[in-house]
Amino acid sequence: MTAARAPRPGPVAGPMDLDALITDPETRIVVCCGAGGVGKTTTSAALALAAAEAGRTVVVLTIDPARRLAQSLGLVELDNEPRRVDVPGASGELHAMMLDMKRTFDDVVVAHSTPERAEQILANPFYQSLSSSFAGTQEYMAMEKLGQLRASDRWDLIIVDTPPSRSALDFLDAPNRMSRFLDGTMIRLLTAPSRTGFKIASAGFMFFSRIISKILGGQLLRDISAFVAALDTMFGGFRERATATYELLRRPGTWFVVVATPEPDALREASYFVDRLSAEEMPLAGLVVNRTHPPATTALSATRAEGAAEEVLEAGGPGADLAAAALRVHAERMLLATREQHLADRFTSAHPEVAVRTVPAAAGDVHDLDGLRGMAEALTGADGDTPTGTPRTRVLPARRR
Ligand SMILES: Nc1ncnc2c1ncn2[C@@H]1O[C@H](COP(=O)(O)OP(=O)(O)OP(=O)(O)O)[C@@H](O)[C@H]1O
Ligand SMILES: [Mg+2]
Repeated sequence: MTAARAPRPGPVAGPMDLDALITDPETRIVVCCGAGGVGKTTTSAALALAAAEAGRTVVVLTIDPARRLAQSLGLVELDNEPRRVDVPGASGELHAMMLDMKRTFDDVVVAHSTPERAEQILANPFYQSLSSSFAGTQEYMAMEKLGQLRASDRWDLIIVDTPPSRSALDFLDAPNRMSRFLDGTMIRLLTAPSRTGFKIASAGFMFFSRIISKILGGQLLRDISAFVAALDTMFGGFRERATATYELLRRPGTWFVVVATPEPDALREASYFVDRLSAEEMPLAGLVVNRTHPPATTALSATRAEGAAEEVLEAGGPGADLAAAALRVHAERMLLATREQHLADRFTSAHPEVAVRTVPAAAGDVHDLDGLRGMAEALTGADGDTPTGTPRTRVLPARRR
């Protein structure tokens, strides 16, 4: 066995206090990031519910929520505006919305160009495919929407879910990528052969352009050309907005919550993200390790449960099979929990400064207010207040020395 890596010098995190974070009036934005499918949308909704129940006026911006969760939040139609969710007994307000990427993009176009120009852009086939399928558009539009929500000052707290990207970093990279694309030399070369600068276009370039035109098709090139010409006046606008929203993420009052599952890939992704946040000086609340499998009791180790199963079988008698099966289930559960704890420990030894909170897997999907409440309790409850007494920072109790 390899020795555990020596922890980095520096501050060591205490338990993550998400309850204090979301109820603090200074906290205005919480962004939930992480790899695909780890529970970002569910965590966002659960935190928003907890904050509304604690008295805040909250909006959660969800992205592609699972259908049943969307239904229980009243998000039956994609209308790109927050809708109030009825939460009986809550002293605050919970509002939820689902990002409509295309609508958000259209609104930006309309807000930043003359009516005729907007009409041209919106009708352009290249724009239509860009606004619904360009990689990074969803991330960019999520940020755009966040900027709009923040500007309205209607909300005490905005909780932002992030798109189901392969990499959590895509969310942070999107504004730059988008403005680089729209501003890109390549697209200009392709689309504006009559501009100054192209007077010097060589025979080589003309040849190149003809080939590209053949590959892409003349119509597409004309669409791109018309689109870029119409969008020209907006270039500055896009870049400025992207920069402004990015800055919003660095302002005091914004916190990131990184979500992962106790699996190597998800935790690796979380690790990259944590490094990036620290390089960008963006505030990290901590890591949520979601869907863990803590055993019902930790009094019996896997080895002892296995041994006991064999003894019971050897002794025979009524119920022996059943008892042995139950002991084996427990042994498996202990092994799984040990593996999960080991993965969490590995993350912590690389990032001792990052607070961690584990959230056990619920029996089924989390798709209604009760399910969200259960998850919120796991996220915000007091650290030691669990049925087995294992602190919420861990899957298994720390080994006694
Ligand atoms: N603690 C949990 N216990 C049980 N099920 C959970 C838990 N957390 C999330 N889930 C379920 O896992 C699935 C994925 O969760 P969710 O949609 O929140 O992930 P995501 O990170 O937003 O995914 P994507 O990257 O696709 O957007 C959902 O069906 C959700 O109900
Ligand atoms: Mg999601």
